[in-house]
Amino acid sequence: MNDPKNELISSIREVFGYIARFKGQIFILKIEDSLLEHPLFPILMRDISQLNKIGIRIIIIPGTRKSIDEKLKAFGFSSDFHNGIRLTSRESLPIVELASLGVTEVIMSQLTANGCHGIQGNWIQARSLGIVDGTDYMATGVVEKIQKDIILRLLNDSFVPIIPPIGWNKMGHPYNINSTELAKSLCEHLSVGKLFFIGIEEGIRSKGLELGPLTSYLEVNEWGIVSALDITQAKEILTLNASSLDHAQKEYLSNAVMACEAGADRVHLVSGLSQGAILHEVFSSRGDGTMVYANQYSSVRPAKAGDIVDILRIMEDHVKKGFLLPRSAEEISSKLNDYVIYEVDNSILGCGAVHDWGDNYGEIAAIAVDSAYRKAGIGEVIVHSLLKKAPQNGFKKVFLLTTQALDWFYSLGFEDASIADLPKAKQESYDYKRNSRILTKDLP
Ligand SMILES: CC(C)(COP(=O)(O)OP(=O)(O)OC[C@H]1O[C@@H](n2cnc3c(N)ncnc32)[C@H](O)[C@@H]1OP(=O)(O)O)[C@@H](O)C(=O)NCCC(=O)NCCS
Repeated sequence: MNDPKNELISSIREVFGYIARFKGQIFILKIEDSLLEHPLFPILMRDISQLNKIGIRIIIIPGTRKSIDEKLKAFGFSSDFHNGIRLTSRESLPIVELASLGVTEVIMSQLTANGCHGIQGNWIQARSLGIVDGTDYMATGVVEKIQKDIILRLLNDSFVPIIPPIGWNKMGHPYNINSTELAKSLCEHLSVGKLFFIGIEEGIRSKGLELGPLTSYLEVNEWGIVSALDITQAKEILTLNASSLDHAQKEYLSNAVMACEAGADRVHLVSGLSQGAILHEVFSSRGDGTMVYANQYSSVRPAKAGDIVDILRIMEDHVKKGFLLPRSAEEISSKLNDYVIYEVDNSILGCGAVHDWGDNYGEIAAIAVDSAYRKAGIGEVIVHSLLKKAPQNGFKKVFLLTTQALDWFYSLGFEDASIADLPKAKQESYDYKRNSRILTKDLP
């Protein structure tokens, strides 16, 4: 059993790390209006307000599709779309504006109730989409220009700009714009840390997905949702599952790819129906929903002096259980070049080392994965990287001593060996009382 106090402290440390990183970053949140009447909506808005209060600069784009459809119907207009874009007539535009304003006001009220200052304005310049392939898009427009300086000034003063999908041309005529396009344009013009699509979908479901060479290993959370994908993996899933993915999932994933390509570092697909999902997604390495990322997100890299506290932290739990031998900061420091760490989004989740015992022998040691992140393939990635590093250090063979992870190392291709197979110096220091099993692996 893991110690609950230790787990809590680990979580708090993790959150501190994230706060330090995200403070001052811009997060854009596109919130679907289908969530507005849900009992969890006020809680979602409270969580968003808390993010603003810790110094994250928030922009909200209200999704307005449902409200516009309902209002148009109530006023006797039909909702017409072409290639997924709403065809807004000049006559129905006031209704579209009214519906957008209604959604904005609900969000504004929630921000106010949580002590945050929402603000709405005419910062989006739009132009007519015109007539494309014979289809007249009428009062449907596209983003022409964003008043970036004004938005940045508001963000710097801790305001939360709420930007509904309405823009104006230079003469002041309004246009209905697509809110996903709006999110994409903001990503192109502002330096956006994260874009969230918050709706009723939980993320990309792994069940039934056809996988290809880039997606043969995917990190999936306990609810069966794919946790993270880079752009190439997201595209592979879209291609291989073009006919089987349902419309919402396909739209979700292609919007995420589009936004990453427009400049967002990370795009998160999160359900507003799962309590605390946004906090979990922001403050942990493995959230509730799916993250599509533009740049490198996880890596194994050589350890640095500043990593030693994290290496000790990760090992502590396993040392207590007797799985690993205790090591001091000085011992780790004296062999720091032997260590690698596994990092996700700047959080250290695992470590390992390969030590030199002479006679071209390397010892794989100190493999440890943060207890909260087990079974995500991290251990395997660390061992593979050490097996790659070993020949570069001149080792022809590696060995290891283990008491608890025998089957796991078998699964990675290690084989049983005896004390006589160890290099001389290691034979002399072998602890007969601990009675560890010895495994070896020849290197290519
Ligand atoms: C062993 C350890 C490094 C595995 O890390 P991990 O990231 O959870 O492992 P992976 O995700 O790569 O592999 C997970 C699989 O290995 C299995 N596995 C994990 N630890 C295992 C163990 N000790 N014995 C047998 N199988 C094990 C899991 O059940 C899982 O199987 P599944 O894919 O069928 O569900 C990790 O559990 C750990 O830190 N253990 C404590 C320290 C230790 O024993 N180190 C080895 C001595 S150097």
